[in-house]
Amino acid sequence: MLTAMSEPELDFIAGATATEIADSVERAVRQARLGPGDRLPPIRRLGLRLGVSPTTVAAAYGRLRARGVVTARGRGGTAVADRPPLPVAGPPAFPPGVRDLTQGGPDPALLPPLAAALARLDRRPHLYGEDPVLPELAALATAQLEADGVPVAGLAVVGGALDGVERILQAHLRPGDRVAMDDPGFPPALDLLRAMGLRPEPVPVDDDGPLPEGLAGALAAGCGAFVTTLRAQNPTGAVAGPARLEELGRVLEAHPQVVVVEDDHAGPVAGAPGVTLAGADRPCWAHVRSVSKWLGPDLRLAVLTGDPQTVARVQGRQLVGTGWVSHVLQGLAVAMWSAPGGTALLERGRETYRRRREALAGALAAGGIEAHARSGMNVWVPVADEGAVTRRLLDAGWAVLAGERFRQRSQPAIRVTVSTLEVTEADRLADDIGAAMAPRRRTRLA
Ligand SMILES: Cc1ncc(COP(=O)(O)O)c(C=O)c1O
Repeated sequence: MLTAMSEPELDFIAGATATEIADSVERAVRQARLGPGDRLPPIRRLGLRLGVSPTTVAAAYGRLRARGVVTARGRGGTAVADRPPLPVAGPPAFPPGVRDLTQGGPDPALLPPLAAALARLDRRPHLYGEDPVLPELAALATAQLEADGVPVAGLAVVGGALDGVERILQAHLRPGDRVAMDDPGFPPALDLLRAMGLRPEPVPVDDDGPLPEGLAGALAAGCGAFVTTLRAQNPTGAVAGPARLEELGRVLEAHPQVVVVEDDHAGPVAGAPGVTLAGADRPCWAHVRSVSKWLGPDLRLAVLTGDPQTVARVQGRQLVGTGWVSHVLQGLAVAMWSAPGGTALLERGRETYRRRREALAGALAAGGIEAHARSGMNVWVPVADEGAVTRRLLDAGWAVLAGERFRQRSQPAIRVTVSTLEVTEADRLADDIGAAMAPRRRTRLA
């Protein structure tokens, strides 16, 4: 048990007002004197040390919480968030020779060549006052979305899927509101919610997507939005089929005020057809489709559609802020999207990711290990101790992610990104995962 003496004093936390105290904590996080998971002093104790009332300290902690710098840890008090919205140092690089399967991104060899797209770019200078959405991009995006059954009444271009999610949530919610979200789900989306002062409510996911009873439970807690990924779900690879969509649709019918936010980050290389919960009767919804996984994440571009009010709010807010996403980037996306041979390249990407996913999932299944990988670029492997398995795999030369940051209430697992995994590596990786899960048994058998 920690005693008062054994706890670090953290005397850099100082100030006479809530603002000063909050600023001192923020400065300490920026300077890496406090890191993710570090606990802040209990409110009363800090109040006594600084000679201020507990209310002042509570107000300081509340401000830090509203900005996502710290999180409440129940009886564990208040701790620095896993990923505070500040420029802090990232995780250390892996030792040389380690195969990095942590990134979740596409295989660069399967993206359209940049040089060819640059050569096809329209060189006309773009000025202020043009249509925020390049008409050629609007035409390509509308055709692709409508082919997937996503109705397109209006379109905005945003800086990637997560920027779209942020803008949609900002258009409808206020700090303190609850947001139903896939569990497990994409950690930066969780970080984003916390940075916006929103409160995530977990919706459990199985291989067919979000569980209807889980969604009903989260919405009953009073959520203003539901953020979900219906194919290439990250990390589980779940795909929502027609039956699941219908069940989810029935749950949502009882909550017409909830904004449904579909984060389609993988688009046409997801390895499953595009789907939507939007219907003629859904009053409040938005679908964001990123180009990151099939044209390249550095384009920082996604298209966003939805009900007229949501799209208008996003467009309007963008107009009084950044204005638009660079027409040069939009033009580059058009050049890549419509490049000669583009359809074949997309097909190759989809097929390659499927082979890599199935190679690892198949090899794990052959060893009796449960794995989830119906679509996308990741394989999700439930394990008893995700930290220990991750460390043992690193010793064996594989870097994978412990599931902790993906999970709210779901069970421990590891995420293996297979976008660059050669099929010939799959058996060895599956063996090493098995050994990392049961090291003693393996040692005895060896
Ligand atoms: C569910 C999900 N949303 C969003 C993103 C990021 O997309 P973007 O690069 O368009 O911001 C990812 C990236 O892997 C993701 O898995």
